[in-house]
Amino acid sequence: MGAMPARPIRVTFVCSGNICRSPMGHVILERLVDDAGLADRVAITSSGTGDWHVGEQADPRTIEVLAEHGYDGTGHRAREFDVTEFDDLDLVLASDEGHVRFLQRAAGTPHNRAKIHLTREFDPTAVAEGTLETSDPWYGGEPEFARCFAEVERACRGVLEHLEQQLADEPSRGADSGRPSPSGRT
Ligand code: 4NP
Repeated sequence: MGAMPARPIRVTFVCSGNICRSPMGHVILERLVDDAGLADRVAITSSGTGDWHVGEQADPRTIEVLAEHGYDGTGHRAREFDVTEFDDLDLVLASDEGHVRFLQRAAGTPHNRAKIHLTREFDPTAVAEGTLETSDPWYGGEPEFARCFAEVERACRGVLEHLEQQLADEPSRGADSGRPSPSGRT
């Protein structure tokens, strides 16, 4: 009783158009987090480094491969990455090295740069094999979308484990996320 609601961990997925790779991460991780009972502890978003598809649904092939695996991607609407959100984010998951470079330029501070990771850094198999970029399915067909889905889903299982660990390590993770503030509470 009386405890402040914990500030959620804010996770965002980034790709180029926000219609293929990052929406997959967004939809998959949201479900895994929900299934783990952590929906109120983790806030998930996604966006693209480009604005070409802003406002559009995910690519129909993205929606299809997600549906084949029991995920509903129909509610997604594409957004462009908003650099002003960087300070509020905790974990910024890039699809490939181009996105990492874009995000490093946008980060502004070492503190923000430290938030950037390739999504597949959370898949131990990908780390062992040194294949950390998420393959871009946009120019491909069904096999490329299936491959991308498998890469992202494996990584999301690792992201969930990471988040569970972080929440276990910081059970009272509060609104100030550990940063000092003048009032001590806000
Ligand atoms: P995404 O895939 O970055 O995974 O959403 C792409 C979507 C659109 C384009 C490129 C990649 N495009 O050039 O429009």
